[in-house]
Amino acid sequence: MPKIDPWGTELIEDYSRLIKDFGLESMESFLDKFPEPNYLMKRGITFAGQGLKELTDAMQNKKPFYCLTGIMPSSERIHFGTKSVIEMVKYFQKQNAKTFVLVADLEAAATRGLSLKEARERALNFYIPAYIALGLNPKKTVFYFQSENTEVKNLAYLFSQKITMNEFRSIYGNVHPSRILSALAQAGDILFPQTIEKMPGVIPVGIDQSPHIRLARDIVRRTKRDFNFFLPSATYHKFVPSLDGNHKMSKSNPNSFISIPENPNDAGKKIKKALTGGRNTVEEQKKLGGFPEKCMVFEMYKQHLIEDDKLLQKIFDDCKKGNLLCGQDKDNAMELMISFQKDFQKKLDKARKTKKQWKFIK
Ligand code: TRP
Repeated sequence: MPKIDPWGTELIEDYSRLIKDFGLESMESFLDKFPEPNYLMKRGITFAGQGLKELTDAMQNKKPFYCLTGIMPSSERIHFGTKSVIEMVKYFQKQNAKTFVLVADLEAAATRGLSLKEARERALNFYIPAYIALGLNPKKTVFYFQSENTEVKNLAYLFSQKITMNEFRSIYGNVHPSRILSALAQAGDILFPQTIEKMPGVIPVGIDQSPHIRLARDIVRRTKRDFNFFLPSATYHKFVPSLDGNHKMSKSNPNSFISIPENPNDAGKKIKKALTGGRNTVEEQKKLGGFPEKCMVFEMYKQHLIEDDKLLQKIFDDCKKGNLLCGQDKDNAMELMISFQKDFQKKLDKARKTKKQWKFIK
C-alpha cells in the first residue's frame, strides 16, 4: 500500500490504485453530480474525494454548505499545488459555498518556529492577497487566525481525548508533539464552521493532505453524541509534477519546481531543463511524434497554465504528429509561464489594496 505522508515527498504514480486502497471516491463517478465542474475536475487532476454524495446533494438542492482552506504562512512563496486548492475554492464559491480561510499561525509557530506576529504579517502582506490574486473572492470569504479563534482551540482540546498515540502514529507515521497539536487544531479548523451552522462542508486539498481529513472524519464519528457534526467532505488533487519527472514537486530540489512568484528568468531556465516526452533525435520526432503524456511541460499546461481545452488538445495533437518539437514547445511554455507570473504580480498588487474589504472573525 502506498504511504501518504503530509510531510513527505513521495510521488504517487497510480492514482486509481490509491482510490481503491484508501477507499476514496473517484471524481469521474461524481462528475455529472457536480454543477458546472471546473477544468481540474474534468481533466481528472482533482481526481478523487470523500463524502462527495453529501456534498453534491447539498449543492444540487441549494442547501447551505461550506468550503474551508488554511494558509500556512511559512515562506513568501506559494507552491503551484496551492493554485489548485484556490481553483477548487473558487469553484465552490461560485456554487455559493460559505467560505472560510484561516491562517494557521499556531501551526506555523509550532512546526516552523515563526512568531505569531511574523505569521500574521506574512499572511496579511502576502498570503491573503496572493490567494485573492489566484481567484479567491474576498467579498464572499470569512478569514480568521487560529490563535484568535477560541472555538477552534477548544475543539482541539476536546478532540485530544478521542485519539490514541497509536492511531496517530498509524495515520501520520512518526509524530512529534508539535504535529499532534497542529493536527488537532486542523481538525478544529475543519469542523469549526459547523459550530456556527450545522451543514456539510468540503476541504479541497492535495492528496498528501488526506491523513488530516481521515483524522477529522474519525473524530466526527467519535464525537457524534457531543456534537453530531456532518462528516467533512474533501476533494483531492494530484501532485504537481516535478519538472525533472522524479518526485512530487518538492522544495528539496529547487531546480525542479517553479513557485509563485518566481523570477521570470529562473522560471525560464527551469523549463528549459524540464523532462519532456521527446524522441532521441529531431528527425525521429518529426517522423514519429513525441509523447505528451510523459512530458512534464505538458503536465504543467494541463494542471496550471492552459484552461482552454481546445488549445490543450491542439498542443497534444501537434506533438503527437511531430509538428511541435520540444525546443519550440519549451519556448512557448516559457512565454506562458512568464505571462502567468507577471499577471500574478499585477493582481497581487491590486489585491493588497482591498484590505479594507477582508472580513475577520474571532
Ligand atoms: N496544515 C495546513 C498546511 O500545512 C494548513 C491548515 C491548517 C489547513 N488548518 C487547515 C489546511 C484546515 C486545510 C484545512 O498547509
